[in-house]
Amino acid sequence: MQKSKAVTIQRHIVEQERLFPKATGDFTGLLWDLTLAAKTISREVNKAGLAEILGLTGEVNIHGDAVKKLDVYANERICKSMEHGGHLCVMASEENEDVIPIPDEFPKGKYVLMFDPLDGSSNIDANVSVGTIFSIYRRKTTGRDATIEDCLRKGMEQVAAGYIVYGSSTMMVYTTGQGVHGFTLDPSVGEFLLSHENIEIPSKGKIYSINEGNAHTWDEGTRRYIAYLKENDPSTSRPYSLRYIGSLVADFHRNLLYGGIFLYPADYKDPKKPKPKLRLLYEANPLAFIVEQAGGMASTGKERILDIQATELHQKVPLIIGSKEDVLLYEKFFNQK
Ligand code: AHG
Ligand code: MN
Ligand code: MN
Repeated sequence: MQKSKAVTIQRHIVEQERLFPKATGDFTGLLWDLTLAAKTISREVNKAGLAEILGLTGEVNIHGDAVKKLDVYANERICKSMEHGGHLCVMASEENEDVIPIPDEFPKGKYVLMFDPLDGSSNIDANVSVGTIFSIYRRKTTGRDATIEDCLRKGMEQVAAGYIVYGSSTMMVYTTGQGVHGFTLDPSVGEFLLSHENIEIPSKGKIYSINEGNAHTWDEGTRRYIAYLKENDPSTSRPYSLRYIGSLVADFHRNLLYGGIFLYPADYKDPKKPKPKLRLLYEANPLAFIVEQAGGMASTGKERILDIQATELHQKVPLIIGSKEDVLLYEKFFNQK
């Protein structure tokens, strides 16, 4: 762990914004609102095991609120925290079929926010790490209201991206294109403090992360690549270790710090119709922006994630992400006929 300098996240965001002389402070406000939402979600995630106890009937908690599934709660929390600040013109969430407009009573801003409110939510009942992922763009259309066009973008147009991992501690990691920075929530003061400045992913790792139960659905290249990682050759740090949590944020975060590769290839059961699982706008793009800023790579096997033009809100893509040398080698295997 790197040495903490007791820099709060809001100070860091302000200082990052000062690097852009024309900045209005709008962006700082946006990220600040997001950290507030993150703290509230963190609090709820931390008492997830108490939901049944506090909920008594399972329907109403001690505050009189309905006990909600945490991904629904996180989704509502982010929408409510972000809709009134005047920074956003539209939002999109993994949990909503359509775009989420900013209600008429609030001022509209120039940014677009897309997010996965709770990633890895199937892990929550077992007290395993989960996360929130976010991605921010500048508005593109000029009409009165922002539209879906403002959301259907290329990942390389992102102006910021980040995630919060609710793990043994709560951490927020973000980039505005000036490196990747990590903050750990100090629960005693309720602030995110800079704990990981300028994160750089090792150029090669010793970890691979993939759901091996899906091996029967993999393409030939992925099969050969994974078999290669398991061969014994200490001079190339093989065999690699398998680490798979099943929460993308947590798997990604570990590999970002230690080096390694995360893979969620498409399902090739029907070779004419490969079926990917992870979502371009809420999962792949933000993590791809972060990994590139940290010196790593994100690819579908064939193409750079950040170059893909989104055509649908809930578009899915194969995601191969992590240390540069590892991803480059995967691409070789994948493209070898
Ligand atoms: P979400 O909880 O937001 O729907 O995302 C789940 C994703 C991701 O977090 C994880 O990497 C992957 O699904 C796990 O999928 P498998 O259970 O198929 O391995
Ligand atoms: Mn997810
Ligand atoms: Mn989710």
